Amino acid sequence: MSTLRATAGWTRPVSLDGSSRSTFLWGAATSEYQIEGGPESDWARWEREGRLRARHERCGEASGHGRLWESDYALLASLGVNAYRFSVEWSKVEPVRGEFSIAALEEYRRRVDRLLQLGIEPVLTLFHYTHPAWFAEFGWETRRGVELFLDFARAVADAVGDRVSMYTILNEPVVFVLGGYLDGRIPPGLNNFSKASRAIENLLRAHSEASFLLRERNPRARFGIAHNMMDFAPGRRTSWADRRLAAAADRFYNRAYLEAAATGRLDMRIPMIGRIRASVPDLPGTTDFIGVNYYSRLHLQFPGRSRWKGEFFYRDGGGRGLTDTGWEVHPEGLVSCLRTAAETGLPVIVTENGIATRDDRLRCDFLREHVALLARARTSGLPLEGYFYWSLLDNFEWLEGFAPRFGLVDVDYATFARRRRPSAALFAELGARFLHPVLTSP
Ligand code: FCB
Repeated sequence: MSTLRATAGWTRPVSLDGSSRSTFLWGAATSEYQIEGGPESDWARWEREGRLRARHERCGEASGHGRLWESDYALLASLGVNAYRFSVEWSKVEPVRGEFSIAALEEYRRRVDRLLQLGIEPVLTLFHYTHPAWFAEFGWETRRGVELFLDFARAVADAVGDRVSMYTILNEPVVFVLGGYLDGRIPPGLNNFSKASRAIENLLRAHSEASFLLRERNPRARFGIAHNMMDFAPGRRTSWADRRLAAAADRFYNRAYLEAAATGRLDMRIPMIGRIRASVPDLPGTTDFIGVNYYSRLHLQFPGRSRWKGEFFYRDGGGRGLTDTGWEVHPEGLVSCLRTAAETGLPVIVTENGIATRDDRLRCDFLREHVALLARARTSGLPLEGYFYWSLLDNFEWLEGFAPRFGLVDVDYATFARRRRPSAALFAELGARFLHPVLTSP
């Protein structure tokens, strides 16, 4: 679609050795709060206030990665990855406004150095839903909020900016604003359209402005946003209203951000709620790739009971069953979302894709099917440059707590013992085939 074509040219990927050769990234993804917690964050406060859907849950130390990161990195290396996507926890770097923790920043530098020693490219996320609890006083709806985020980004740049070449600065800003500013289900827990509009514009500006200062430390650095995309389908194929609803969801949820990344103009019409228009002129020039977080297909039906007027639900359309989070396994949707993202003219990377299941055979099937379709799509010209499985470890899931098991590595929450699941070995094998097709073909 021509409207998504990027206005600015995009830089060719640069590999770790500094050459301009394109390196396919094969990795796993995590976010810090979900694997090690963050007691000074707004999420921890949210839990203490009993506002989490799984009310009895507390993230605490989550999977214990805070103490075990070194051995977790060894585990990661044993999966044959060449990249790792993880986040820096703002509340740990700046627990009190204006007071930056040297110890925390030095530890991030040690982490990054360790990854580089292991031959693993760090892909850093600066915002993965959590903030220091004090940030609530400002919020993303204010310009001051952006400036405070930039102070944090500057501290990260000083600590690791010279060593990190790849960033997904923001994780899922659209989901965050829908859930936190319109639906009240996650912090800051608001239901306020005008604040939501300002928040999304400020988030996208924060991406651009942070990338400028990170690029100062490393001119080769590349930037993208991890954008959640879903495959939307009409509840009843024969229903005109359902089809329109699915198309509207695709436009506002999937495509509005892509269009902004390509043109600098955001035009998001959220059915029955409102239209968000924003101008972020620097976004195209500061977006080198589109990161896609893809999990499932959603069916939509009219009318619904909610304010949104549409009913949305997962359905086992392909006979593969639903996951433990109730999501449909629908690998074809991944390829179609990536194709949509590629309409921007930018390279695409799967920055998250995974399954919550206690039956590891299903995870193996999931991996096999998704990766096979990706390999085929890449051969037929999709500009795909990386794949990150969510997640390395079992972890704390935002709304459900510890019940969903997304990990290639099982975590015993009583002892923090790790056990590689059979899918971890399969993941390594698929990676080897994907990365070195000639070497490993029979
Ligand atoms: C994504 C989030 C990630 C994780 C997965 C299951 O939307 O980015 O943190 O919760 O869903």
